[in-house]
Amino acid sequence: MKIPHKFMITKKLLKYLSLSSLIAILVSSCSPHHEQSTFTNAGPVAQAQSELFYLMFWIAGIIFVLVQGALIFALLNFRRKEHPIPGSDFKLPDIPPKQVHGNTKLEILWTIIPALILVAIAVPTVQTIYSTYEPPEDSDPLEIVAMGHQWWWEFRYPNEGIVTANELRVPTNRPVKVTLQSQDVIHSFWIPQVAGKKDTVPGNTNQMWFQVDEPGNYSGQCAEFCGVAHARMRFRVIAEDEADFNVWLNAMKTPPKTTSSEGYGLFLAHCSMCHSIDSYMNESYEKEITVQDDRWADWFHNQEESVRVSAPNLTHLGIRTMLAAGQKDMTRENLIAWIKDPSDIKQGTRMQSVATVYQGGVAKLKEHEVEAIADYLLSQIPDGWGSVSTSAESLEEAEAMVWNTPEEHGEYLFVNQGCSGCHSLNEDEVIVGPSMYGLIDRSGSKVEGLSAEEYIYQSITYPNEYIVDGYAANVMPQIFVNLSEEELNALVSYLKTIK
Ligand code: CUA
Repeated sequence: MKIPHKFMITKKLLKYLSLSSLIAILVSSCSPHHEQSTFTNAGPVAQAQSELFYLMFWIAGIIFVLVQGALIFALLNFRRKEHPIPGSDFKLPDIPPKQVHGNTKLEILWTIIPALILVAIAVPTVQTIYSTYEPPEDSDPLEIVAMGHQWWWEFRYPNEGIVTANELRVPTNRPVKVTLQSQDVIHSFWIPQVAGKKDTVPGNTNQMWFQVDEPGNYSGQCAEFCGVAHARMRFRVIAEDEADFNVWLNAMKTPPKTTSSEGYGLFLAHCSMCHSIDSYMNESYEKEITVQDDRWADWFHNQEESVRVSAPNLTHLGIRTMLAAGQKDMTRENLIAWIKDPSDIKQGTRMQSVATVYQGGVAKLKEHEVEAIADYLLSQIPDGWGSVSTSAESLEEAEAMVWNTPEEHGEYLFVNQGCSGCHSLNEDEVIVGPSMYGLIDRSGSKVEGLSAEEYIYQSITYPNEYIVDGYAANVMPQIFVNLSEEELNALVSYLKTIK
C-alpha cells in the first residue's frame, strides 16, 4: 500500500521529535544545575570522587577513540574490492589476503597494555576509597548515625543526644563522620552533590564522611532499591555555618513553646505509639533508640497484629521544611492531606496498615480533628525559635477551665491527654492497652504494698514498670510523669469511677 505523502512527513516528524526529546532527557540528566547532579561538587569528598570520575572518563575516552579509529581505518582501507576488466563488462574478484594466525609479540603487547592501564587506574581509585572512609586525622568531625528505614531516614547525633528524621543539619566547613546502619533492608546513603553512595546494611556498620563548603540545602536520596517506596526515600541536608548550626543544636534540646491543645491529646492517642515528639528531654536519646528497636521488633515478629512500627521522630516538626521523606513541602495543607491519607502521597507507608486510627483506609477522624493534629505538630517549635500562633488560644482556653470535682477534671484529661485513644471504658474491649473498666477493683492486689490508687498513679507515671500480662512495654508514652500532681490525682480519681 502506498502511504500518502503528507502522512510520511508526519511519521518522519514524529520519529524526529521522539528521538530529540529522548536525547534532551538524557542530556538534561547531565545538567550540573539539577539538585541531584553529581557534576556540581559541594565539598572535598564530592570533589575527589568527581576527579576520579573524570580521570576514568578521559582514559576510557582515549581508548575508545584509538580502538574505534583503528577499526574504521581497517574497514575503509581493506574492504573487499572488485576490479573491472577494461573494455569488457566483467570484473575480477579481489584476491584474498594472506591468512595469518598467531603473533606472540602482538598478543603479549595487547595483554600487557590493558593490565598496565588497570593498574594505573587502581592506584587513584584505592586511594580515593580510603580517603572517603575516614575524615582527615587532624579534623574535629561531627559524628552522626544515618539509619535507613523502609522508607525514611533516621539521623542520630550520639554526642549531642539528638534524634531527628529526614532532614540532616550539619555545619559547613567541618567534616561529618557518618556511621551507616539499617534496621530492615539494604539502603544506600547518597547526597549527589556532596558524597556517596554507600550502603546501609542490616547487622553491619558502614562508614563514610563528607563536608559541605557552602550553606544551603542539598538533596539526598536512597540509592539502593529497597521496596515499593524506594524512589520516595529522600532526605535533605541543611548546611549552616557553625553559629547557626549551634543555635539549632540548642533548640533541639529546648521544650516547645506550647504543649497542650486538642491536637496534643489526639496525637498521644493515635500517633505517639510510633512517633516520638519529646526528644528534647534529658535522656530521651537512649529511650528513643530502645523504643525504636522495640517498635520494629513488635512489627517484624507480628505484622498482622502489631499496633506500632518504627517511625520518624517528630520532635520540633514545626521547623522542618519537608514532610514524608521529602515528598512535599511542610505546609499545613500538605500535612493535613498526609495525615488523612498518607498512601495517597507516598505509596508503601506503613501508617495505614499499622495505626488503628486508619483501619487500613483513610484516617477515621473528623476534619477538625485532623486539623487539630496538624496544628499541634506545626506548633512543635522550640521555645525562642520563632513566633508560634497556633494553639496559643487553646492553651489559654485550657488554663481558663474550672473543674467542679477532681473526677470531672480527670475525665477531661483522660480525653485531652489521649488516654481514651488506647484505653476503652467498656468491659472486655481492648483498643491498644487494657480496658479501664473495673480498674479500681483489681488494682489493689497487683503489687504488694501499693494501694489501688498508688498502683494507678504509678502505672500512669512509670508505665513500663507496671506492664499487665499480655501487653508490650514501651507502647504507652512515658511522658505523663510531666503532668502536675493535681492532674495526676484527678486522673486517678476519674479512673476509680469506671465500673
Ligand atoms: Cu531505601 Cu531505597
